[in-house]
Amino acid sequence: LAKLEARGPWAGKRVLVSAGPTRTYIDLVRFVTNASTGAMGFALAEAARHAGAEVTLVAGPVELATPQGVRRVDVETAEQMYAALEGELSQEPYDWVAMVAAVQDLEVDGGAARKLEKAELLTRLPTLGWRTARDVLAALTARYGRGAPAGAPRSRFLGFAAQTVEDGPEDRLQQELIRLGEAKLRAKGADAIFVNRVGAPGVGFASATNAGLLLAYDGEAIAVRASGPPIAKAALATWLLDALVTT
Ligand code: CTP
Ligand code: CA
Repeated sequence: LAKLEARGPWAGKRVLVSAGPTRTYIDLVRFVTNASTGAMGFALAEAARHAGAEVTLVAGPVELATPQGVRRVDVETAEQMYAALEGELSQEPYDWVAMVAAVQDLEVDGGAARKLEKAELLTRLPTLGWRTARDVLAALTARYGRGAPAGAPRSRFLGFAAQTVEDGPEDRLQQELIRLGEAKLRAKGADAIFVNRVGAPGVGFASATNAGLLLAYDGEAIAVRASGPPIAKAALATWLLDALVTT
């Protein structure tokens, strides 16, 4: 098996994966986060390693074991996630960077470095100043991806987007997902994006399975591939890697 992998399309390739949620701290012990479990990102890291790639995994706070042979860096906040990924990319390009993490969208001004008492929390919470967090993926593609200066070494980036789409006929859902996915692919400056519905049975966040569409640049056009009915996240990870090889 090891020999087969050594000859496979991912042998010797470098893959950087971000996974899990991040936290926005309000005080020393209280934070805002989201429902990401890290399962999809860890599955992708494990599948890439199994396919022979050299894999670095930047993980938010999750309850998952490190896949064998994967180098893991733990972070908590969006800024720490950016710093860890930027640190990797500034040293040496990666063949693919899979931004699977569910990065918190907001940062807070006016949080406390100590634990607030409940009376203080009650008065302070409504006065906190919220602003959008750094878009980690967009910032990285601008420096190390499609937006990098001509001649600079480039990494390729895969984004992930979970979208709420109103129920309706299957082809309409698909069209809507493609529309949202294309807009996000362009906005992020990524090379590909995997979009899935959130809140639908068998897909997304806390589900053991997932399904969706891979949108990837094919020259100037954007090619769409459907993963099919929901499958285990490990199987989907393998499907994604196979698709990326021809991207
Ligand atoms: N992402 C990121 N930094 C952020 C937010 C998102 O790097 N601050 C990345 C995610 O890791 C993912 C992609 O961007 O790969 C899409 O995330 P998504 O939440 O769908 O995009 P947003 O731009 O945050 O849009 P939305 O308003 O729908 O949340
Ligand atoms: Ca978001």
